[in-house]
Amino acid sequence: MAKLKLIHRCTDCGSAHPKWSGRCVTCGAWNSLVEDVEGPDEKVSLAAGLALVPPGEAKPINDISTHLGGPVSTHIAELDRVLGGGLVPGSVTLLGGEPGIGKSTLLLQLLASSNRKCLYVTAEESAQQVKLRADRLGVNSPDLWLLSEMSLTNILRSVDELKPDVLVVDSIQTVVDPELGSTPGSVVQVRGCAHRLVQEAKHRDLTVVIVGHVTKEGGLAGPRVLEHVVDTVLSFEGERHHALRLLRAAKHRFGPTNELGLFEMTEEGLIGVPDASQLFLNDRRTGVPGSVVVPTIEGHRPLLVEVQALTNKTSGGVPARRSAQGLDPGRLALLLAVIERRARVEVHTHEVYASVVGGVKLTEPGTDLGLCLAIVSAISNKPLPSDLVVIGEVGLAGEVRQVSQIQRRLTEAARLGFARAIVPASAPAKTEGLSVMRVGTLSEALAHAGLN
Ligand code: TYD
Ligand code: MG
Repeated sequence: MAKLKLIHRCTDCGSAHPKWSGRCVTCGAWNSLVEDVEGPDEKVSLAAGLALVPPGEAKPINDISTHLGGPVSTHIAELDRVLGGGLVPGSVTLLGGEPGIGKSTLLLQLLASSNRKCLYVTAEESAQQVKLRADRLGVNSPDLWLLSEMSLTNILRSVDELKPDVLVVDSIQTVVDPELGSTPGSVVQVRGCAHRLVQEAKHRDLTVVIVGHVTKEGGLAGPRVLEHVVDTVLSFEGERHHALRLLRAAKHRFGPTNELGLFEMTEEGLIGVPDASQLFLNDRRTGVPGSVVVPTIEGHRPLLVEVQALTNKTSGGVPARRSAQGLDPGRLALLLAVIERRARVEVHTHEVYASVVGGVKLTEPGTDLGLCLAIVSAISNKPLPSDLVVIGEVGLAGEVRQVSQIQRRLTEAARLGFARAIVPASAPAKTEGLSVMRVGTLSEALAHAGLN
């Protein structure tokens, strides 16, 4: 049978070119050529992962069974929390993250605590290296099998022989399907191999977890092109030099995607962090201008995090610098404009650096008011009370708006010993041990916090 030929296809006009170039000679589009394959139809569809799919059959909707296998616990509480109970048999999960963040460690721990038959395919490290890590982690699991292999054909042969319940492929960028002819890690290979693994998972009711490396820029071929192929996309994040690791589901066909899992990387591997608020506030110094504690919600989990702002007066002329870490820069710019216009605090003459401590990313507007107070506290050089938490969304008119799940946030603040809270005027909540100050505008909040 004729072999597949590697070509470059224009994503704009669809024309095929034997060589890559920066511009499509057919339609003139720039940067539109991507790797693709050309050849006999049946082989191309194999590359696209379609050949093994049995022909579909239309059925009346009432005849379709909705009974799906439920999730099977991983016995790792933080992972189960993110997955909504565990891994679903027959599903494919992609675990993405930067190299060195701890993906292989997490998966080895996952397999070790599973009491099912597991096959760990390592296409990056030798079996000895994995065994050494397993020894360090104290993994001693008789039904955990190791295979150091890069060829997808051999991997599938091994799955055939061993018939595991769980298959881990570490990583998708280093696995190759010899049929596809392209280089390992290319879009064609990554997509083709993932499609094959998805079919095997559905066909055998096999739980598959695929590791995918992403770079800081997210530019690497791999995880991005796989997101629509797999059932679940988990992303493992954190600063490599900090011990804290955050696990989130970016996509999940079997449950919600807003739960956060927290781990600490230790000498004994990854350890779940059940009391995250405590951890985030451990290193907090009180009495410093520009620092505020904000109760936020990640999924079902209330979290107390410290938001910091640092400001420096500029000499004028050049536009003042703004930098946001763990916060949306656009939201920071908007809030700075509201502070200047509605609370009459001059910010345009200040460089503003705002950051969330502990590598957490805040995306919900309930943290707006806290950020505003931190900025004004930094500019006026007055610290906020150390026993204060701040909750509220800030609108363009300088009004403070209601946020979701206020009661949970306040209960968490009270649990950690905070005594005062600034909340939106319409907040229904009353919490034991907390003195609650209701505010309708940003200016009122500043006055309550002693900043005006
Ligand atoms: P690893 O799981 O190999 O990362 P990835 O698969 O995402 O590339 O983990 C890499 C780092 O984790 C490595 O720098 C060492 C550290 N580590 C620990 O701190 N403790 C441990 O118990 C283990 C196994 C690794
Ligand atoms: Mg690894």
